[in-house]
Amino acid sequence: MLIKTISEVRAQIKEWKKEGFIVGLVPTMGALHEGHMSLIKKALSSCDKVVVSDFVNPIQFCPGEDLDKYPRTLDEDVKLCESNGVDIVFSPSPEEMYGNETPKTNDFLTYVVPPFFYVNKLCGKSRVGHFDGVCTVVNKLFNIVQPDYAFFGEKDAQQLIIIKKMVKDLNIPVEIVSCPIIREKSGLALSSRNKYLSDEDKKEALVLSKILNNIKTCYQNGVTDVKSLKETAFNYLNDKHELEYLEFADADNLEEKQQADNNTRVFIACKVGGVRLIDNILLNQ
Ligand code: PAF
Repeated sequence: MLIKTISEVRAQIKEWKKEGFIVGLVPTMGALHEGHMSLIKKALSSCDKVVVSDFVNPIQFCPGEDLDKYPRTLDEDVKLCESNGVDIVFSPSPEEMYGNETPKTNDFLTYVVPPFFYVNKLCGKSRVGHFDGVCTVVNKLFNIVQPDYAFFGEKDAQQLIIIKKMVKDLNIPVEIVSCPIIREKSGLALSSRNKYLSDEDKKEALVLSKILNNIKTCYQNGVTDVKSLKETAFNYLNDKHELEYLEFADADNLEEKQQADNNTRVFIACKVGGVRLIDNILLNQ
């Protein structure tokens, strides 16, 4: 069932809570692919009722990013969700979420601002304010849906770690469930932004997973020095790749590592054909 207003979702949730149902939330920005479907299937298998939010959140896009051209496929998303047994697809307008004038700054909206230590690195470095927008909308969705469980993908590992931190720091009564990255056979991590890639770019985009897999192999062969591990990446890069970062950080608190260990996650962001792609791997997986 497609619902566009907060009051209608609330009314339905109230009924479900009266019945004692366990409610799961899968927050998305739509353009659903197999990666999202893996979260949805996990939610369906572990909760009585499942809400998928489908909302391209304007306040998490930075100036110059792809807010206007971000893929919007609501009709297909709803069909896919309904055929899989999702109970509610919640797709509010920006006005429904933020009032008549969607705020571009926190001058007029109460924001949830995650700690600087978690955002001054990786994607947060180039996407200033992005995680404020993510935490704010996720917090609003938690308040609207009041889920027992919420499902997030490890593809956006920095986002997942920041959301876990927000939930802990603000005592939000929800359990965060993390779900593994889903990849094409080629190794390319699924992402809504893959839609922007030409066939040629798609081949070039494999550089991200190749670099990560190579680093993992070197680590498993005994190399732990991060500097040496980073150097192995340069063999894979050519002028079609614009590397933004390749970083090693603690998988729980994002502390930078000089020596890799089993709890190290390697994060990469690289532009291919003008499309910014991210990926990551846990060294001990
Ligand atoms: O990961 C996403 O798609 C978004 O950042 C999220 C969590 C749905 C918030 O808009």
